[in-house]
Amino acid sequence: MTEADLVIHRARLLTLAPLKDERPRVGVQAGDVGAVDGGWVASRDGIIVGTGRDAAWEALELTSNARVVDAGGAVVMPGFVDPHTHLCYEGQRWDEFVTRRSGADYLAVLERGGGIHATVRATREASDDAIVEHLLRRLAEVAMLGTTTIEVKSGYGLEPAEELRQLRLIARVKATAPIDVAPTYLAMHALPKQRAEDRKGFIADVVAAVATVAREGLAEAVDAFVEKGVFDTTEVRPVAKAARDAGLALTLHADQLNDVGATEFAARMKARSADHVANASADGLRALARNAIPVVLLPGSAFFVGYAPPDARRFLSADVPIALATDHNPGTSPLVGMPAAIALGVTLSGLSPHEAIVAATINAAHALGRGERTGALVKGRRGDLIVLRTDDERELAYALGAPLVSAVYAGGIAVA
Ligand code: NIG
Ligand code: FE
Repeated sequence: MTEADLVIHRARLLTLAPLKDERPRVGVQAGDVGAVDGGWVASRDGIIVGTGRDAAWEALELTSNARVVDAGGAVVMPGFVDPHTHLCYEGQRWDEFVTRRSGADYLAVLERGGGIHATVRATREASDDAIVEHLLRRLAEVAMLGTTTIEVKSGYGLEPAEELRQLRLIARVKATAPIDVAPTYLAMHALPKQRAEDRKGFIADVVAAVATVAREGLAEAVDAFVEKGVFDTTEVRPVAKAARDAGLALTLHADQLNDVGATEFAARMKARSADHVANASADGLRALARNAIPVVLLPGSAFFVGYAPPDARRFLSADVPIALATDHNPGTSPLVGMPAAIALGVTLSGLSPHEAIVAATINAAHALGRGERTGALVKGRRGDLIVLRTDDERELAYALGAPLVSAVYAGGIAVA
């Protein structure tokens, strides 16, 4: 007899269950949310123990403290996975936001020592406690908006010692966070200003830091901003190799503002994901498809910076798996929560509402190496699930800004 301590029934259940083997969704599966009307899902100790239809859940053995929720026909679906954020930062960039007008201006501001460097100054000056408190508050905010798994990058320290400090603070937060945190060492976000004459020395120090990060278990992946005037693929290669040697995954800010061959490079290095990719070449797309590497589209940053958003149809027709993320950061993408990313993925990047939901759940889980663990309502996975205030999930893509998430369970525990 199957035991359950949480049952949600009378739901429009989006299972996102795989047709056969679990893999990043492309082709017809890229838009298949696995809807079951009159469905239910049950979990025990934070793990899904079953899903089904109609009254079959009544055969479950309920624990004495079991919670039984009648969803009244509302949508119940996997919690969102946000696979790309820069959530660990201090300070705001109002002035830059008000004056910036285009993608090119963004790089000019960076070159002049503003942009990322402004956030680096504010973050370095902040106390550990302030950083932890703000990070926890941001996690609580996005949990209320349905996020149950989130990537958090360092990247506003630049110098390896400062990056290690941020990663240790992220680890402190991860230990008590209500949702699952996947930490990433954003090792090459910009060249520290004081290293202007020492690019090679900086890269050597980053290579050494990758080994420390792996040894101390401070991150699951290593990231770099591969962009004109920032870092090129030749400079990133030794760091990517160090990540591989240390058993860490690789993810890249690839071809965000210019095609610099970063998407092909990501494929060649067997990256876990290639992110942004608004200017990826056709060759880059083919290389990703061959290796089943997902792209993480970040339409929020195109929206706020004002460059042409990534065209999802290009990736879909090339059979590249698509994930969506907020890219939350104080410079290019201040948006909060995955419903906003879904709405922009549909309106700006051309995903269908169902494709956007796949991109925000199971494909996003794959982009974090968690494709077997979360992102779908399937027996054996974490009980990461949300209840919407609607019986039509397409509203997520449409009612921009509406409070559509009414309940959130992360690992079976109600967090919002
Ligand atoms: O994903 N482009 C590089 N990194 C971030 C922005 C960081 C910032 O401007 O603070 C991004 O867009
Ligand atoms: Fe980013």
